[in-house]
Amino acid sequence: MSVRKPFADNLLCFALGPNRRAPPWCSRPLAVVHVARCAVVIARRSLARREVRSNARRRGRVARAMPAQTFDATTRQCAPRACGASEDSSEMRAVSVRASTASKPTSSARAERRRPDVRKMDVPDWLEATSNACLSGNFAPVRDEMDGLVSCDVSGTCPLDGLYLRTGPNPARAPALGTERHHWFDGDGLVHAVRFSREGVKAAYGRRYVRTRGFEREKTAGKALYTGLRDIYPIWSYLLPRLYEKLFLDGSAPDSAYFVIQSKNTSSNALKFHAGRLLSLFESGSPYELSIEPSLRTKGLCNFGGSFTTADYWMGNFTAHPKVCPLTRELIYMGYNLVALGGEQEGETTITVGTIDGESGRRTHKRTFKVQRPSMQHDVAITPTKIILVDGPLIFNLPRVMNGGLPFSFEKECTMRIGFLPRKGDDGPHWVDTNETCFAYHVVNAYEEGSRLILDVCKADETNALGMCQESSTTRSTPSANPVNAGRDVAALWRWEIDTDEKKLISSKRMCEHTSDFPCINREYTGLKYRYAYSAAYKAGTEPVERMDIPSFDAILKHDMETGVTTRYELGEGRTCGDIIFVPVDEPKSEDDGYVLVLTHVDIEGEDPRTELLMLDASQEVLTKQCVVHIPMRVPYGFHCEYIPAHGENLASWPL
Ligand SMILES: [Fe+2]
Repeated sequence: MSVRKPFADNLLCFALGPNRRAPPWCSRPLAVVHVARCAVVIARRSLARREVRSNARRRGRVARAMPAQTFDATTRQCAPRACGASEDSSEMRAVSVRASTASKPTSSARAERRRPDVRKMDVPDWLEATSNACLSGNFAPVRDEMDGLVSCDVSGTCPLDGLYLRTGPNPARAPALGTERHHWFDGDGLVHAVRFSREGVKAAYGRRYVRTRGFEREKTAGKALYTGLRDIYPIWSYLLPRLYEKLFLDGSAPDSAYFVIQSKNTSSNALKFHAGRLLSLFESGSPYELSIEPSLRTKGLCNFGGSFTTADYWMGNFTAHPKVCPLTRELIYMGYNLVALGGEQEGETTITVGTIDGESGRRTHKRTFKVQRPSMQHDVAITPTKIILVDGPLIFNLPRVMNGGLPFSFEKECTMRIGFLPRKGDDGPHWVDTNETCFAYHVVNAYEEGSRLILDVCKADETNALGMCQESSTTRSTPSANPVNAGRDVAALWRWEIDTDEKKLISSKRMCEHTSDFPCINREYTGLKYRYAYSAAYKAGTEPVERMDIPSFDAILKHDMETGVTTRYELGEGRTCGDIIFVPVDEPKSEDDGYVLVLTHVDIEGEDPRTELLMLDASQEVLTKQCVVHIPMRVPYGFHCEYIPAHGENLASWPL
């Protein structure tokens, strides 16, 4: 059946929902909203001024009681230290004091009663006891950001001079619809940074929120204004004010695509350093740019040297995993659209790919093409000539969203397709069906040998999309080819080989007996024939966390893709991790001459939760511990990391 839905129809569909009627006053909605909003804004500002005055008096009392700004790892006491520059330093300085004091043990019976599932966890005041896994244990947010840096002890000999960054969700305010409705992805992006130097005996740790439009508006309002991913169906009291802001305040450059209205761009998924810019990425929105000074100041939405247009902000998303070509230094990105834009077939939608120049930082190529299904594609691969799409059957379901359902279905009768198209030019995309019902969140690497395209991923038989997936049929009518057989959302290193001339699958095989995800390689081999990969191994017996299937990882694997040998480094008792990154030495003698950086969460019974940044020497067959940076406070579980070397003026403003 041919169903054409132009832009306006989709917008109206999203605003009203297919099964909802517009209220009688909707013929003049903007006027009503405007008047109501003005009244609300005036009242809120008045209350906010009173609260600011009250808080200032209270903070003054706290600051007089404890004037120190930073925390010394050795003495576990606060000590004076220069703070990073801040656009609102006076307020953030007070926040830092609160964060530091909060890291101290508390004997408050009231605090224990309100947060029975956390011990000395430095959590926000609003976080009450909850059964929501996204807000429990080490998923719980930390109390606040810091404008200063914390001194960290270093064990061993630090082999690198650079800045490690890891981003993740950290809700700054109580969720709008209550803690039980909160999803892990809803939290505001909080960037954690660790600066270290070669052979340095001390390192420095700090953390800052990404100042997104939504974050700033909620900060002004003093409460959450957006609903989360579990509640993106239209709720008038949230949707209309946000629609007003998007249309009349954001105007030519909203930070998320037109169909994302009452949920926000949290800018929490990943970080990417390219062309001198530090990008903060969110899969359903546009990138923000951060300063790489200690303040981690948010510069605003990135317009890539003015090469992004209004259409890019309104219509496009930007993958959390763009790739830098080591040959050209270009950044190649992909953005998938989940809502049909004039598609000729039901469900048809579009994907956009683009190239950012490595010198100028401007976009030099953009192409949008239609695809047959609105699938979530979290990662993308490149070779020197091709872009490779990983199109698994995790399908967005707009009608169900309109009726309050979860946004995705994992369609077990559908299969994984691999698409390839030229980095520049209009050919393709060409699709190759693997005949496998599976999903792959993360790409390891891809490369070409003649007409053979080799694509390595971390493949799972099924995904629950971290609790955003509606249960589909429980079994396929026919068994899927080449299953992993490791359970839902448990992935293993997998290789597909494709004949790009014949456009068919040559082979499909598992590359490692272990199960793992969060893969990384030496990025100088991105898109090229490579030998070594690294990944985080699932903790044995990992149980799905309530509705989310968030796994734990407690070991690091080194994979030799030529010999098939995998070695395993155990993190040790009470230690788990997430994303990892390989950092080559300055003048590497081999592909694996470098270090794997692992942010390790330490949770040992009877000890304060803390964090260690582990540097593993990767140059031998077995990973070995080289150095540990001891961060004297908890860093919550999060998403992806990045590394910036201290070349040139990159990190000149960071004190050590
Ligand atoms: Fe990812």
